[in-house]
Amino acid sequence: MAKKDSHYISAKDMRAIAKENRRITRAFEKKKARKNIPESEYLSEMKDENNIVEFDDLKTYFYTDVGTVKAVDGVTFSVPQGTVVGVVGESGCGKSVTSLSLMQLVQGPSGQISGGEIRFKASDGKTYNIAQMPTNVMNRLRGKEIAMIFQEPMTSLNPIFKIGQQLDEVVLLHEAGATAERAKARSIEMLGLVGISDPERIYGQYPHELSGGMRQRVMIAMALSCEPRLIVADEPTTALDVTIQAQILDLFRNIREKINGSIMLITHDLGVIAEMADYVVVMYAGRVIEQGTAEEIFKNPMHPYTVGLQKSKPVVNQKVDRLYSIPGSVPNPVDMPTYCYFRDRCERACEACAGEYPEMYQVSPTHKVACHLWDSKKKEGNE
Ligand SMILES: Nc1ncnc2c1ncn2[C@@H]1O[C@H](COP(=O)(O)OP(=O)(O)O)[C@@H](O)[C@H]1O
Ligand SMILES: [Mg+2]
Repeated sequence: MAKKDSHYISAKDMRAIAKENRRITRAFEKKKARKNIPESEYLSEMKDENNIVEFDDLKTYFYTDVGTVKAVDGVTFSVPQGTVVGVVGESGCGKSVTSLSLMQLVQGPSGQISGGEIRFKASDGKTYNIAQMPTNVMNRLRGKEIAMIFQEPMTSLNPIFKIGQQLDEVVLLHEAGATAERAKARSIEMLGLVGISDPERIYGQYPHELSGGMRQRVMIAMALSCEPRLIVADEPTTALDVTIQAQILDLFRNIREKINGSIMLITHDLGVIAEMADYVVVMYAGRVIEQGTAEEIFKNPMHPYTVGLQKSKPVVNQKVDRLYSIPGSVPNPVDMPTYCYFRDRCERACEACAGEYPEMYQVSPTHKVACHLWDSKKKEGNE
């Protein structure tokens, strides 16, 4: 991986970094483990009451021995209540780390939320800043208010327990005073809701007896069983073949109507986003580079990266010799340039792009883009 000299570090440097990292991460861990913290330390106010989540300049770093990986570096976007927000970008751009930060599931001690706020509007009417919440309080929100669906259902289900047992456990944990009978009834009801035709039989089966699509349905049933206010789905259809993928997307659409829930849908697949999302957030190398309504992003993409992503998507009935691919690769996350991270791969890079990292320009009330091209266009228009 390391070709340039600057990417090599000596054993001595590495030890120094490791020592410094231990100091930093220990302080973070200590803070999270504190008990009986006054609520005022992690209560906040939503900027817009219509939102359920607001990420505000979120920074999630991994303190590794070769340097600090700024996996998420100043991400700002929100999820309005009752909408589907699609988060899209190449693999490695920080989509999963953003969603794991929201669940406080970033892999510690090296991974830490190092700055910014994640404001979540809970069912008790309060707004919590998840970035500052101690773990024991976070446990109250996890599952019950925010549920997460992961990419690979086989690794999220326990292979030695029957589906029913695993579903019952969730109900029993989150519903105060639920009996075993009540849990079973609820589990079977949930399996029915996610389109499993013989829920009683599936209830008694082991994960390995089910197909990938069925397992993903079970995971969705599990996530839905606590009636969360927000569902975070991280590449929920990536491990599935296309027909099953379409069925699962249908299921999401159904669920959304039934529970009027908000969904944060993470995927590298623009096709999935086009089918599902009301709003789109495009990430690149740990930052948001463009965001807007689905219509704005698909009809009027402004960032050359977003344009490139769309060009690299196959279109039905359109014959191409070779699918477009964006040249080059993402810069080394430990050693990010000071200019636009996409510049070295950008076909439209101009003089300004060698300067500072572009700020977010507001194209419309909902559409924003971080690209100097837009800045120069705006200036031309004004003069
Ligand atoms: N446990 C970890 N330790 C160090 N770096 C990590 C860890 N997990 C993720 N990263 C880094 O964070 C960045 C973002 O990763 P991720 O959010 O998983 O990307 P995506 O989900 O968009 O494919 C990547 O550069 C990845 O290498
Ligand atoms: Mg991911």
